[in-house]
Amino acid sequence: MKGPRPGRPERRRLFFALWPDLALRRALAAATAEVASRAAGSRIPPANLHVTLAFLGMVTAEDVPELLAIGYRGHWPGLALDFDRVEYWPKPKVLVAMPDVTPAAGIQMVDRLWESLERLGFEREKRPWHPHLTLVRKVSRPPPRGEELPIPRRPARDAGAWKLALVESVTDPAGSRYTPLARWPLKGDASQLPE
Ligand code: 2AM
Repeated sequence: MKGPRPGRPERRRLFFALWPDLALRRALAAATAEVASRAAGSRIPPANLHVTLAFLGMVTAEDVPELLAIGYRGHWPGLALDFDRVEYWPKPKVLVAMPDVTPAAGIQMVDRLWESLERLGFEREKRPWHPHLTLVRKVSRPPPRGEELPIPRRPARDAGAWKLALVESVTDPAGSRYTPLARWPLKGDASQLPE
């Protein structure tokens, strides 16, 4: 069996994400199925759909308890995230769904996460957070430049359907698998948030 080499710390690829519940996951997969299949490429399986908040890269096993503590300690605001459009990003060759408006509660979460992560020695992401749901990688049939791709059927508004999660990414021959190590509810009812 494969394992860490003696003397080498075990390393795991982790990230914090907004993690949809099963009903929202199904709704997102159904709403984006048509645009995703038109783009060809490598479709993200519904089980993997998520919105990355803070990507950590490879961390050592000793970091994991402290990363979990960040999730447990925080008071995470409720958030509503509607996906209004689909975009093609040519450099990473991905098709993504995006909201027209970045929710303030999401920006606050990302900021709080990085404040805690910096205290642990992680280097803060320099690029601003662009919430997105990656739908297809290695897109082989990109949409024409500038074409708007409205999502045909928007999933129902998702009060309480998102959780904060610390997620492990494992790559095996079948592709990437994302497994939440822990999930934390967001406080406050997202249905009360302004449109
Ligand atoms: P994305 O595909 O949603 O854009 C796990 O690999 C997740 O972390 C992926 O969903 C990916 O986001 C994000 N990710 C991977 N590599 C990254 C990097 N170098 N910088 C920022 N985010 C990254």
